Amino acid sequence: KSTYVENEKELAAVHATAMVKNGMIVGLGSGSTSAYMIKELGENVKKGLAITGVPSSKKTAQLAQEVGIPIITLEEAGFLDINIDGADEFDTEFRLIKGGGGALLREKILADNSRFNVIIADSSKQVSKLGAYKLPLEAIPFATANIIKKLTGMHLKPMLRQTNGETYKTDENNFIVDIDISDIRDLEKLNRNLLHIPGVVETGLFLESTDIIIMGKRDKIVVFNA
Ligand code: A5P
Repeated sequence: KSTYVENEKELAAVHATAMVKNGMIVGLGSGSTSAYMIKELGENVKKGLAITGVPSSKKTAQLAQEVGIPIITLEEAGFLDINIDGADEFDTEFRLIKGGGGALLREKILADNSRFNVIIADSSKQVSKLGAYKLPLEAIPFATANIIKKLTGMHLKPMLRQTNGETYKTDENNFIVDIDISDIRDLEKLNRNLLHIPGVVETGLFLESTDIIIMGKRDKIVVFNA
């Protein structure tokens, strides 16, 4: 990835941390943009900011601990004051594709249990129509082969996610199936149909949760308010 993309990620991430105030319970997203945010929060904690984090993945939990952010479980938190996470794509209607990093299920649960949802992104994530990026679905292993047949019948070109020659497993021990939604117009309907398939646990379509998108664009910040 070119350095200006990294710079945009870091700009957006650092800008978002200004919204995190003393005493808040903060949802910590996953992925490379969120990693910048977590590192910055760690710096602020060292300077005296008192927060607790709820991580959206094992990887994020590890990073949060490394940088000194106290973490608790969602059960302990109850509800989050703010949740900050990245995205793979976002459109003008604040709809997102997430899950490129495989953490979509816990990420969506945190988004649903937060008072305020912030998305941080570099400018390559902004699209006029979602779907150049493949949409990840989290599926229960028992059902996945049959789910893939169904998705093929729906012309969604499913691909079982592999890493290093092995089937990728999520933090919840499920599989990820990536599908092609580039031809789909009604995303709400698609999402309902996908969630209706037994064994599909969650989709990476985040259609209604986002309150604000903070995007880095070259050396500037662009803020979109829902
Ligand atoms: C993780 O599962 C995803 O939802 C991430 O939020 C998404 O992949 C963005 O990652 P980057 O910040 O690395 O682009």
